This record gives sequence, structure tokens and C-alpha cells, in this order.
Amino acid sequence: MEIYLTTVLYSLAAIALPAIWIWRGRGPISREPLPHYRGWPVFGNLFQVRRERPELTFSEWTKDLGSVFSVKLLHSQFVVLSSFEAIYEALVTKGNSFSGRPTKNAFRAEEFSGHFSSIMRLQANRTRKKLRLICHKKIKMYDTGMKRIEAISMHMIQFLVEEFQGADQTSFNPKDVIYNTVMNTMMTLLLGKTFTKDEKFFEQIKEFEQKAIRTLSSSGRGAELDVFPWLRFFGNKTYKILKRVVKLKNQIWEMMTEEASRGDLLLKEGEEDVRLMSALRDALAEKDSGITEKHLRSVITNDIVLAGTATTSNSLYLFLNIISRHRAVQMKLQEEVDRIIGSDRTVCLTDKGDMPYTQATQLELLRYSSVVPLALPHTSLEDTIIQGKTVP
Ligand code: HEM
Repeated sequence: MEIYLTTVLYSLAAIALPAIWIWRGRGPISREPLPHYRGWPVFGNLFQVRRERPELTFSEWTKDLGSVFSVKLLHSQFVVLSSFEAIYEALVTKGNSFSGRPTKNAFRAEEFSGHFSSIMRLQANRTRKKLRLICHKKIKMYDTGMKRIEAISMHMIQFLVEEFQGADQTSFNPKDVIYNTVMNTMMTLLLGKTFTKDEKFFEQIKEFEQKAIRTLSSSGRGAELDVFPWLRFFGNKTYKILKRVVKLKNQIWEMMTEEASRGDLLLKEGEEDVRLMSALRDALAEKDSGITEKHLRSVITNDIVLAGTATTSNSLYLFLNIISRHRAVQMKLQEEVDRIIGSDRTVCLTDKGDMPYTQATQLELLRYSSVVPLALPHTSLEDTIIQGKTVP
């Protein structure tokens, strides 16, 4: 039984009830029909959903339909889960049953992810497991990983503080500075080098991110392409942007492979190669690894550059926005920073345990807001019951 859990990919959604939605590819909606609103013939609920912000419509519908309900958008039927309990049950308790990824009626994702070759779009198979393992291992999970993340972050924080100080107490929009900081953190992990914001590469990545967000929204512009891919032959505007996104993705990949080769020459004898790019290239070279160049291209551009930068930078930007409206919280945060860190040094990971207010604020911000309010699409691999309702 196929299922599909999708998301308004990387749309910046201030303060929304997180929800996930699951798409079913075939078979009846449920043995006991899931609650739903009657839609239009052919279009289903398409015109009842706020196209750029579907999560707001779903939050509203939860009040009447409960936390597990179905939605029909053109030919695709989804199951929306919109409470902590329902999401936990689907992704944690019954995670294996929901570990599939949709491939039907997903034309835009197929184009964008190189025929479903990114971690986000691969089925739960051996290749996906291997790619995830390499990324986790190289980025943070094992041994000295967190120390390296700490060193990279400290360097980036220093840069960020200098940029903020450079504003000289005048008001400014920190979006670009935050974006550049996060992007360079990713670039250090991938390639062991940073870029300045006026380099062409940076501009390309920014354009890649902005256009990808616009073209991939689940119910937003271009959703019709998923069901009627032939529309691309009739001047479909979203398809034109999607083509540009794929072109940018390929340019970014080429640029990164060139940078990686340049980096190879700079490695000293006996020096450990800590670049994620190198670990992925090694896996590609392994016999029978099942990993192809297409996987590498998609993992690096989609899963790390785009997924890592857009989510983290938009979250930080959103957090600053929220905090700026809560002066009492700012004062308490400042008091804790002054007391624990002072002004002679930079924050480090071991300070975490001594800063309960800062930690609680971060967790509350993650709970209160979401930049990926509909998470990623999943499909179910078998009939499953969520909150007492059958999801086929
Ligand atoms: C504040 C920061 C972040 C937020 C809010 C966020 C959010 C999410 C969400 C909601 C999912 C979907 C989970 C699911 O439905 O199964 C996801 C998956 C994913 N994220 Fe993030 N993420 C963040 C940071 C990052 C970073 C830094 C990276 C890369 C370095 C990353 C790469 C990925 C990948 C590859 C997946 C797919 C995982 C899989 O399918 O196994 N994310 N993220």
C-alpha cells in the first residue's frame, strides 16, 4: 500500500500549527472514511485551501475535523495529521510503516530531486541508509564530530557578531548576514572553505533556494504540473522556473566538484580529510556501493546546501523577529549571557548546561514556530491505524 507525506517545502511560515500530510496513491481512502470536507468534482479541495499557506487552512479545519483528516487536491489524496500525538504515532511509534516516499503525481519533485535521488526523496532502501550514515558521521554524530561543529560555529559566530557590530547601532535587516553565515557553515562542512557574499556562487545558491521554494510548494503555484505534467509543453510558468532551478542545481554541483578538486591539491601529506564531499566521493568509488553520481549531486545540492541552509537561516531569522517583540525575554537572555559568558570570550558547547533560560527559549521558539510546517512527504508502506483511524 503506497502512502505519501508531503510538505510546503521550506516556506517561511511564522507561527503555524505543525502538521504533516500523507498522500495515498491507490485504494479507498479508508475502511472507515476519514473526516473530510466535500470538494469540487475533479479539483477536490484545491480552491478551499490557501495555496501559499495550506497549513493555516489545515489548522482551521482541525477544529471541525479533528487531528486526522483527508484532503483531495486534484487527483491526489492526502491524509493530514495535525496534533503532536498523531504526528508522533506516525513518525516515531509507527515510523517504519510511514517511511516510504511518494513517487506518483510528484512531477516537480522528480525533476528537482534528479528522479528521486536525494535522501529526502529516496525510498527507505540500502542506498538511502548508506547516504544518511555518511552524512551523519561526517557532520556530527561520532567521535570528535561535535568538536568540529563547535569550532566551525565559533568562527561563524565571530563573523556574525562583527557584521552586527558593523551596523553601528543603526537598524538593518540581518537576513543576508544570517544567510551567509549559515551557508558558509555548510560550505566549511562540505568543502572546508568559505565564500564571500559578493561571489557569483553565493548569488547562484540564493537564487536556487528562492526559486526552489516558489516552485515546490505542495498546493501552491505549479501543483497542477504534478498531475498534468504535459502542461509543461504549453508555457506553464512554474515549469519555466523549475527548469531554471535544475540548471542552477547543476551549475552549483559543477562548481562544488571543481572546488573539491582544488581542495585535494591543498591537502598536506598525512592530513585528515574531513570534508563531507570527500566522504561521499569515496562512497561513490566503492565497488557495489549502489551510489551514483546522480545521488551525490542531489544529496549535496538538495539535502545539504538547500535543506541545511534554508531551514537553519530562516529559523534564526524568525527567532530574532519573535524575540524582538518580547523585551522581557531579551533582558533575561542578556542577563544569562552576561553572567555565564561575560564579554571576554565566545560561547561554547559546554556552556549549554549552565544556560537553562537560553536553552528553554530555543526549545520554545522551535515549538512555537516552524519553517517547514508540513514537514516532508511520506507514503505508508502498509495499512496503519493512526489515532484510531485507518490510513491505507
Ligand atoms: C532549524 C533547522 C532545521 C529544521 C527546522 C529542519 C526541518 C526538517 C523537517 C521538518 C524534516 C522532515 C522530517 C520528516 O518528515 O521525516 C527534515 C528532514 C530533513 N532535513 Fe532538516 N531541518 C533543519 C536543519 C537541517 C540541516 C542543517 C540539514 C542538513 C545539513 C537538514 C537536512 C535534512 C534532510 C536530508 C532531511 C530528510 C531526512 C530523511 O528523509 O531521512 N536539515 N528537516
